[in-house]
Amino acid sequence: MNTERMKKLVSLVKIHGLEAVALNPGPSLRYLTGLEFHLMERPTVLLVSASGMSAMILPGLEKAKLPGETTVFQAFTYGDDPAEWQAAFDRAAEKLGLTRGPLGVEAGRMRFLELVFLKNALPGIEFVDGGKVIDGLRRKKESGEIAKMRRAAQIAQSAILTTLKLLKEGMTEKQIANELVVQLLRAGSDDQLPFSPIVSLGQNTANPHAVPSDRAMHKGDLLLIDWGASFEGYFSDITRTFTFGEVEPELLKIGDIVLRANRAGRSAGKPGLPAGAVDRAARLVITEAGYGDFFIHRTGHGLGMEAHETPYIFDENKTILETGMTFTVEPGIYLPGRGGVRIEDDVVVTETGLESLTDLPRELLPLEKFMG
Ligand code: CO
Ligand code: CO
Repeated sequence: MNTERMKKLVSLVKIHGLEAVALNPGPSLRYLTGLEFHLMERPTVLLVSASGMSAMILPGLEKAKLPGETTVFQAFTYGDDPAEWQAAFDRAAEKLGLTRGPLGVEAGRMRFLELVFLKNALPGIEFVDGGKVIDGLRRKKESGEIAKMRRAAQIAQSAILTTLKLLKEGMTEKQIANELVVQLLRAGSDDQLPFSPIVSLGQNTANPHAVPSDRAMHKGDLLLIDWGASFEGYFSDITRTFTFGEVEPELLKIGDIVLRANRAGRSAGKPGLPAGAVDRAARLVITEAGYGDFFIHRTGHGLGMEAHETPYIFDENKTILETGMTFTVEPGIYLPGRGGVRIEDDVVVTETGLESLTDLPRELLPLEKFMG
């Protein structure tokens, strides 16, 4: 249990005018308590009130995970019979003495399962999206968190270099992706990867979210890999694009433009500027080169204990950058039916600007340089 972080949460609950928040198993619960639970058929919820009281409803068999007498929240457990579960929610609600609401929930995590028990336990209380509280809680990373993200980046980079050595002409996207997963685990990634690697070849690189297929690697292909590692719950998320043999000149040209856009984005952020400034700087390079219609996604997304979190890097986002915020810079150009290039780095906002946690060479690199 991290009492400093719990204090921060309580103050955010007050600032946003809520009476309490409910957290489900996931990154925010882990951030506060160090406890990891999976979303299972049994409900687990932590309630934290503006008065600083907290109560956790959880299955009795999970009680062994709790830190014992030092715990700052009270545990309300239940057994295997679902008929008992409502009573655990009722006792927790009674303990916290919630009367007014509103109660903020994690919109993307709260399930119908928990919501029904909570609503029954808290009649007349309004439930609202608690997203602003959650974002405020985890958005600025502490130095220890950044160190974990740096390690996640190093693991991902070391895994890709080993994977590239093992590539051979004729290997399929799926085979490359599977090898990369093995190498990520060998290099020290947590077993829960941030996402399954995207590996695409040739024309498939024109689809930013391609799923690895049986398409085999041949001379003249681009190879785009978007992958990440996880270290103690913190993620990396990197994309590099490679060439295999001689690639058509326009694909090399868009490679240069995306490289310049990536640099422009990484140079554009600093404390006090809006997140949108990073998007605009990267996008301007691509638009001025005549490919604006082929940069079909935002420039990046927040990264940390989740693969996508705030701040999102898009033109209209006025969120002011602060030191310790972490996000990706990942411009791309995608030419349908021909190929695409994306170059993605993970950055942290420092006093002077954006520092990249990822440092693999960024230009379109000939695979032949790496293959064994
Ligand atoms: Co990515
Ligand atoms: Co990304």
